Amino acid sequence: MSGPPDTLGHDKAPQRIAAMFDAIAPRYDLLNHVLSAGLDLRWRAKAVRSLGLTGGEKIVDLCTGTGDLALALARTRPRAGRVVGVDFSGGMLRVGRAKACARGLADRIRLVRGDVTRLPLADGSADAATVAFGIRNVQRPADAFSEVFRVLRSGGRFAMLEFSTPSVPGLRGLYLWYFTRILPRAGALISGHGSAYAYLPASVEAFPDPGRVTSDLAATGFSHIRADPLALGIVYLYSARKPPRS
Ligand SMILES: C[S@@+](CC[C@H](N)C(=O)[O-])C[C@H]1O[C@@H](n2cnc3c(N)ncnc32)[C@H](O)[C@@H]1O
Repeated sequence: MSGPPDTLGHDKAPQRIAAMFDAIAPRYDLLNHVLSAGLDLRWRAKAVRSLGLTGGEKIVDLCTGTGDLALALARTRPRAGRVVGVDFSGGMLRVGRAKACARGLADRIRLVRGDVTRLPLADGSADAATVAFGIRNVQRPADAFSEVFRVLRSGGRFAMLEFSTPSVPGLRGLYLWYFTRILPRAGALISGHGSAYAYLPASVEAFPDPGRVTSDLAATGFSHIRADPLALGIVYLYSARKPPRS
């Protein structure tokens, strides 16, 4: 039942990644919650809190997928002004739009089909930007960082969640066993899509370590950069700001 081997390999061609997420979209949320034991919801809530929102902000959520982070942003108090979610998978966005309607948030969220390396937003038009578990799927993450930098206003905040591999020795072994043996099989079983959940551990392993991610953010021009481990380093919450105009 584990499906074909990792046929996607490290090929992150946009059409292939979008097709993969289109295929798993109907079961994506269920799998997220099951495979992370519900922790994914807490991680997104932490990312929202890290932005220090005071109300009325315009926020862009990159790789928004089925919109869980965009919905969490739209639900915060005091209320964010407007949330724009961008993703190139029509299947993921369809699920996200249905959820926004069902939760009465459709007027506060706009889910737009597009590539995050060419954001459909004007320079300096966003107060905050986010991306959850999306950046490692982007073919050229540096292009997405540049786009975030471009669309943020001076002083605007960026929050990013991404998986990593814990470095604590005992935990590392256990986690890698779960991540490379159990998760791909469970994912294939529930989603009916073998390669997508083999791609997940492969893509996490291939993604740069937190030190490299923070230096890439610095190279883009961001300041106040932090990388905070969550769940003993299974996930990192990255925060950064576009420097205020001097
Ligand atoms: C693992 S999902 C994350 C979805 C959501 N942010 C969450 O927290 O559950 C990754 C998403 O990134 C999207 N994606 C990857 N590369 C992209 C790109 N260059 N432009 C737009 N969307 C992209 C995929 O279509 C997919 O929906």
